[in-house]
Parts: sequence; C-alpha cells; structure tokens
Amino acid sequence: MDAKKAAYCDDLKLIKQGAEAKVYKAEFLGRNCIVKERFPKKYRLPEIDEKLTKKRLTQEVRALQRCRKAGIATPAIYFTDLVGSVIFMEEIPGCTMKDFITNNSHEKLSDKVVCAVEKIGEILAKMHNADIIHGDLTTSNMILKTSEQNDGPIIYMIDFGLSQSSSLAEDKGVDLYVLERAFLSSHPDSEDLFEKLLQSYKSFSKNCEPVFKKFEEVRMRGRKRTMIG
Ligand SMILES: Nc1ncnc2c1ncn2[C@@H]1O[C@H](COP(=O)(O)OP(=O)(O)OP(=O)(O)O)[C@@H](O)[C@H]1O
Ligand SMILES: [Mg+2]
Repeated sequence: MDAKKAAYCDDLKLIKQGAEAKVYKAEFLGRNCIVKERFPKKYRLPEIDEKLTKKRLTQEVRALQRCRKAGIATPAIYFTDLVGSVIFMEEIPGCTMKDFITNNSHEKLSDKVVCAVEKIGEILAKMHNADIIHGDLTTSNMILKTSEQNDGPIIYMIDFGLSQSSSLAEDKGVDLYVLERAFLSSHPDSEDLFEKLLQSYKSFSKNCEPVFKKFEEVRMRGRKRTMIG
C-alpha cells in the first residue's frame, strides 16, 4: 500500500494480485469500494510502460461509462488517479460468474445457470450493438450481484482495460471467440451451456450474421493452429 492510496481511503485489503494490477477492497467516503492499481512492469521500457498503463486505465474508465450509458450494468467510478494509475469504483456484492457456474454445475444445465448464461448472451449482444468490444471476456470478469428481489440475475461487467470501440464484425467475432476459449477451459463439458449463451446473443444482436461468420472463421484459424501445434 502506498501513501497516495492511503490518503484517499482507509483499510485497504489486497484481494487480487494479477500480472497487470493489484485489486484491493477498501472504504471510500463511507462506501465499500474496489481499488484497482496498475503497477509498472520492469521488463518494459519505462516510457512505453507508462504510456500503456495510462492507455489501459483510460480505456477501462471510458468503457465502464459507455456501458452504463448503453444500459449495461457496470460498477460506478468514484475517483480516478491517472498519475498513480488507480481507479476507485463501487464494489459489487456477489460472486464472479466463474464461481457461480462452478458451484452450481452439479446438475447439468440447471435452470439458474442457464438463466444466468442467457443473460450474459443478452448483455454481450447489447454491448456489441453499442460497438463496445470488451477485449478480455472471461467468466471472472463478470459479477453476479447478490439481490434480495427476485427479478432475475443482475450481471455486472468488469475489467475493461483491453477494451476498444469498434463497429467491425471481426472485432465482435474475436470477442466471442476469446470468451468461448475462456468459458470452455474454466468450465469443462460446458459446450451445451455455451451454445445457450450464443443463442441468446443471436436473439438480442442487431447484426449477428456477419459477427457469427467472423466468429466461425476465427474458430477455424484457432483449430488449424492447434492441429499444427
Ligand atoms: N467492482 C468490483 N466489485 C466487486 N469485485 C470486483 C470488482 N472489480 C474487481 N473485482 C474482483 O477482483 C477481481 C480482479 O479484478 P479485475 O478483473 O478488474 O482485475 P485483473 O483481472 O487483475 O485486471 P487486468 O486483467 O486488467 O490485469 C475480479 O475477478 C473480481 O473478483
Ligand atoms: Mg480480470
């Protein structure tokens, strides 16, 4: 914990140390918050590292806000420190979709898992309809909010550091492919479940045909690569 962060909030607890960022839980003006700090990487030239870190932070903040405007649930941003590369954001109480699927998959295609996965398909279609490409879609980058009401799952999207704005079917197809790879490796034997996600995406997408064409192409390229080794 450095002095800069400590000056903004009390009681930082490290919850994740990734390759690019440290994520803490803390309190910010009396609210539970998440502090995401990107740190310098020694193996990069300092000027390049600084530029990349700034770019990731800017992309993250921008995409979080663009999603909110498009009606996609994302954490509210409380404060951004571009110099210290820190984002303070709302903490979403709940669990990652990865844990939710893992903990509820004893029964194949259980109703609540199918319902959550269909919701993801809907969210991604809406995100792509708004030309937002996430860039790092995994089930760890989605949080299922704990809710007292019974009005269906609310899923929040997070971790937009690799996002971009693009209307190209290719970028959307690659986004789906990245998710497919992550989904099938995090959740073994879940091809049928992932198919439900794609079906739901199709029904909410404004322009799914070219996106799926690209998705298939990228899949084929991926398979060829795996075969060649
Ligand atoms: N707003 C939030 N509310 C609740 N939990 C969060 C929130 N943001 C992050 N988390 C938790 O912290 C974990 C890591 O956060 P995040 O995915 O943003 O960082 P990361 O994967 O290390 O980032 P990067 O890929 O940019 O290196 C998430 O999987 C989630 O469990
Ligand atoms: Mg992440």
